[in-house]
Amino acid sequence: MKVPLLFSLSLLFFSCSSTVNKNNRNFKIFAHRGASSYLPEHTLEAYAYAHALKVDFIEPDVVLTKDNVPICLHDIHLEGTTNVEDIFPQKKRSDGRWYAADLSLEEIKRLEVHERENKGRRVFPKRFPKNHSSFTVPTFVEFIELIQGLNSTTMRTVGIYPEIKAPEFHQKEKKDITKIVYEVLKKYGYEKNTDQIFLQSFHPGTLKRLKNQFKTKIPLTQLVADNSWGESSADYEYMRTKQGILEVKTYAKGMGVWIKHLKDEPHFLTNIKDAGLLLHAYTLRPEKVNKTTLEIFKQADGIFSDSPDFLHHQ
Ligand code: G3P
Ligand code: CA
Repeated sequence: MKVPLLFSLSLLFFSCSSTVNKNNRNFKIFAHRGASSYLPEHTLEAYAYAHALKVDFIEPDVVLTKDNVPICLHDIHLEGTTNVEDIFPQKKRSDGRWYAADLSLEEIKRLEVHERENKGRRVFPKRFPKNHSSFTVPTFVEFIELIQGLNSTTMRTVGIYPEIKAPEFHQKEKKDITKIVYEVLKKYGYEKNTDQIFLQSFHPGTLKRLKNQFKTKIPLTQLVADNSWGESSADYEYMRTKQGILEVKTYAKGMGVWIKHLKDEPHFLTNIKDAGLLLHAYTLRPEKVNKTTLEIFKQADGIFSDSPDFLHHQ
């Protein structure tokens, strides 16, 4: 059957996220924790759905188990997105939290993943229903093999955008998360295929180590937090100054920045661009986005989005 040319062209436009933003031909969409608007975050199902949505890169956050296996999880804690409190009540620390670093991989595989909750309340009530279907915590290797397998079967290359979570916490637990994650990446070919990966962290020391000690060619993204979040020992207020941005430029290819900082600190965006760094903004969530933030997102070189297809509908 012949398909009319105009129809084929519009299909191409809507099926390729790189072309969504007409002002920036290299605009990238990063599936934030997978297609996390549609399926519980950091599950193989959410990653597979993101791949089907034809994103450019898929983001896993990575932490370590007690037996030093890298797994895909946003928090160093487990109770926000799993039923750990029902399965291992005895593993609670005195601070009232359950830590991935206290459970072996075999134990973590016995947990069910659910939509994110905060003190028992769903953070996004309209997202995937609780007690429907069944999800587990993937290892980082399972994530990579899923993406590489889908790249092969679909003949379409989707990149990965891992975040090394809380390196300073892991160090206190005598765990070298950076080395472990980096060795997996090397084994799976990302040191050679550097166009298929960005590697991110909130901790500048981790990125500097990757560049200077491991001599990686993988493009690095310095995530910028608000000091109030306690993400690392870095001073993010300084990092957002012109001088701070130029320092980031010495080891990173881009900055991953919070949309609120871009909105509230007008020179921040232009200073990043003037420094020649890539600007990747987080996080576009359909529940929270408005006209102003949407316009700012569109000025970035890429965005982390829970709904990777959101811009197609704008
Ligand atoms: O890594 C980009 C964005 O994911 C940073 O925020 O807290 O979702 O990891 P977070
Ligand atoms: Ca992240």
